[in-house]
Amino acid sequence: MTKVKSKWVCIECGYESAGYLGKCPECSSWGSFNEETQFSEKSANAVNNEFINKEKPELLKNIQLNDDVRISTNISEFDRILGGGLVQGSLILAAGDPGIGKSTILLQTGGELCKCGKKVLYVSAEESTSQIKLRADRLQINSDKLYIYPQTSMENIKSQIEEIAPDVVVIDSIQAIYSQNVASTAGSVSQIRECCNLLMHIAKTKNITILIIGHVTKEGSIAGPKVLEHMVDTVIHFEGDKYKSYRMLRSMKNRFGNTSEVGIFEMHSDGLKEVKNPNELFLNERSQIAVPGSAIIVSNEGTRPLLVEIQALVGTTPYPTPRRVVNGVDSSRLLQILAVLEKRVGLNLSKQDVYVNVMGGIDISEPAADLGIALAVATCARDVVVDSQTVIIGEIGLSGEIHPVNNIEKRLNEAISSGFKKAIIPYSNKIQNSTNKIEIVKVKRLIDAIGACVCPQTV
Ligand SMILES: Nc1ncnc2c1ncn2[C@@H]1O[C@H](COP(=O)(O)OP(=O)(O)OP(=O)(O)O)[C@@H](O)[C@H]1O
Ligand SMILES: [Mg+2]
Ligand SMILES: [Zn+2]
Repeated sequence: MTKVKSKWVCIECGYESAGYLGKCPECSSWGSFNEETQFSEKSANAVNNEFINKEKPELLKNIQLNDDVRISTNISEFDRILGGGLVQGSLILAAGDPGIGKSTILLQTGGELCKCGKKVLYVSAEESTSQIKLRADRLQINSDKLYIYPQTSMENIKSQIEEIAPDVVVIDSIQAIYSQNVASTAGSVSQIRECCNLLMHIAKTKNITILIIGHVTKEGSIAGPKVLEHMVDTVIHFEGDKYKSYRMLRSMKNRFGNTSEVGIFEMHSDGLKEVKNPNELFLNERSQIAVPGSAIIVSNEGTRPLLVEIQALVGTTPYPTPRRVVNGVDSSRLLQILAVLEKRVGLNLSKQDVYVNVMGGIDISEPAADLGIALAVATCARDVVVDSQTVIIGEIGLSGEIHPVNNIEKRLNEAISSGFKKAIIPYSNKIQNSTNKIEIVKVKRLIDAIGACVCPQTV
């Protein structure tokens, strides 16, 4: 008889305990423990042992690489965030909010791969074949190498993969499939872990690339344990404003490429289309006349610099404690910048509400955006403007000094190609190939930067 084990698992981080715990010792979540049952005999570990036993150590110099170790998806933005295409035998997790377009992009990718002669198996655990057919018709995908398989059982999926022997498998989604080895319901931590383990085993032994769709919780993290992120080779996040048509794919983890790489797409009725020049998209809503509280920064997202507008609004607060509302930048970063503005520049914001917004719904995490944020706030508070042809680059230190940033020349070239005439950059940044296409103003301190770029409002 199969031995049945019961355990309590934290749904946030996957921590396991023999009994119920109110607070997770690993991630400090409250009430996050669920009871799960597992048949111990056929667990994933057994599969892993079988896998490990077959493998023998090999000398590095004797290991041969295939020529086609990377498969191009034919979608250049998607290839770029993957570090140059899908790596054979890798496991890729694509996560995103409901309805953002995960199934769309992966079905499109499947269609493109088939055009290059690859065999693709699309496992749909959430939609029927006719629903997928409807989408495929809308996306104009018509291929004789694309298999659609509505299935939720991991064991059936495994046997079909063995039978069809595809080059690429898409699992839509990991939260909807289940394995018989684990008694808990689909979507539980044990099920996700077990299914992911089995998929990893298939990917590595059969050299099949597997793309897994994962849902995202309200808090924005991937539903299910962090272990899922550890198990896969690459994690890509689908982001974007659902009320606008563009979407961003961002690589959060990549064992075979650069992380924080961003690919930008626009949602059309016939699918997601690549945006070749994203700066037009982010800057075209901007008014050409300079207004107080607006600054253009050059943010380095992965290998590509992006020109983004930062807007700030500063106004007297009706509340005892002033409000700080941010969108697209880290709120503690803003608090730090505001503190430096107060202490080092003498800008009194203690009775002022401050709102900061990154236009275009993009999240900016790098410190090189600091100076742009500070100038947006300072110009709004003082009712002056940053010239609309100026870009701002620099990180701010606590004593008000401006720190150098990486890839300065790449950022400047991007500003030049978008027609900007002036750049405020950190003093200690060295520029090798000086250019006369853009006026460069080097600043040492925040107060100098404010002096260098603000001019009285012209309208
Ligand atoms: N006819 C259409 N024209 C334009 N856009 C459409 C059309 N039909 C669907 N969409 C877009 O596709 C999105 C849904 O895409 P998709 O089903 O791929 O998302 P998903 O992330 O897989 O969602 P879920 O989490 O529910 O599986 C919609 O939010 C909408 O933006
Ligand atoms: Mg879907
Ligand atoms: Zn936990």
